Amino acid sequence: VTAGRTILETVRWRNGRVRILDQTLLPDREVYLELETLDEVADAIGRLAVRGAPAIGIAGALGLAAASRGFRRCDAGAFLEDLEAAAARLSSARPTAVNLSWACNLAVEAVRRRAGDGGSPEELVQALLAEGERILEEDLHLSAAMGEHGMKLLPDPARVVTHCNTGGLATAGGGTALGVVLEAARRGRGVFVHVDETRPLLQGSRLTAWELQRAGIPYAIQADGAAAWLFRTQSIDAVLVGADRVAANGDTANKLGTFTLALAAREFGVPFYVVAPRSSFDLSLEDGLRIPIELRAEEEVLLCAGRPAAPAGARAWNPAFDVTPAALVSGWVTEREVEHPPFRP
Ligand code: MRU
Repeated sequence: VTAGRTILETVRWRNGRVRILDQTLLPDREVYLELETLDEVADAIGRLAVRGAPAIGIAGALGLAAASRGFRRCDAGAFLEDLEAAAARLSSARPTAVNLSWACNLAVEAVRRRAGDGGSPEELVQALLAEGERILEEDLHLSAAMGEHGMKLLPDPARVVTHCNTGGLATAGGGTALGVVLEAARRGRGVFVHVDETRPLLQGSRLTAWELQRAGIPYAIQADGAAAWLFRTQSIDAVLVGADRVAANGDTANKLGTFTLALAAREFGVPFYVVAPRSSFDLSLEDGLRIPIELRAEEEVLLCAGRPAAPAGARAWNPAFDVTPAALVSGWVTEREVEHPPFRP
């Protein structure tokens, strides 16, 4: 389990570039990409080569550092202008996970401060990279803290359901919801995971199952529609999911299908926990209906493993996320503790 957790290098800084594990090719192939231009970083985020709320935040901040080789360096003002434009471009690559714009904003702020102190363009580049690396480093600690708090909510042994991928592939560290499972197993607790396949892009069956297998944790993949029947027929201790954005009232955006899973969990009295770092919280939004929901290409639904899954000419509706109302959530596990709204700032 320890090996499975620590070897993953989902997103890192390497030789002046952002090195990512290309998640579109998993589980078949482990291929790393080195991104150095703004276009390459935006493309990798947009097509989910790097994905998961914390991981795209880190990729965004480090991506700005890589892309800064193309920024004007005649003076600090010009550099800042180019940086701000690049940050706006990356932030819009995926609109729902607030971590992306949060991390890009932190990077811009760090550079602005350095420019305010009279920093040269070279010093601004250093400040930019230092901020990206700080965000990455911090993420490692956040995963550990969420794992610690979340584990206390589970019996030993535990049988849990999870949706999408919220492990080491979605963060720099051990993960959010799946990080709790990995931490419990690492400490010798028994845990069995029911993995939602997570149509249309199969983050559950391709990525979560891959992580669990590496960690030696027993699991079974189920079609997304299986949840209610699973709760009806088996004894499930908890549902653990991640979040892309949590509004001030606790409404939680996460991968499409999370809301349906929460409704089924409520019907059968199964505790439903959201595990997410505070960087996924957007307290400026009163409720979840204000969260922008990314609409993705119809082809993702109309094709399955590259082959047609619908008649030629069929249309599809493909929101990447849904919003689970706060009332269906039993608790929000953050790096601080198990929290409930109204959240402290
Ligand atoms: O579209 P994705 O694969 O980026 O969606 C990811 C999720 O919905 C995760 O549950 C969320 O980002 C939390 S990950 C720690």
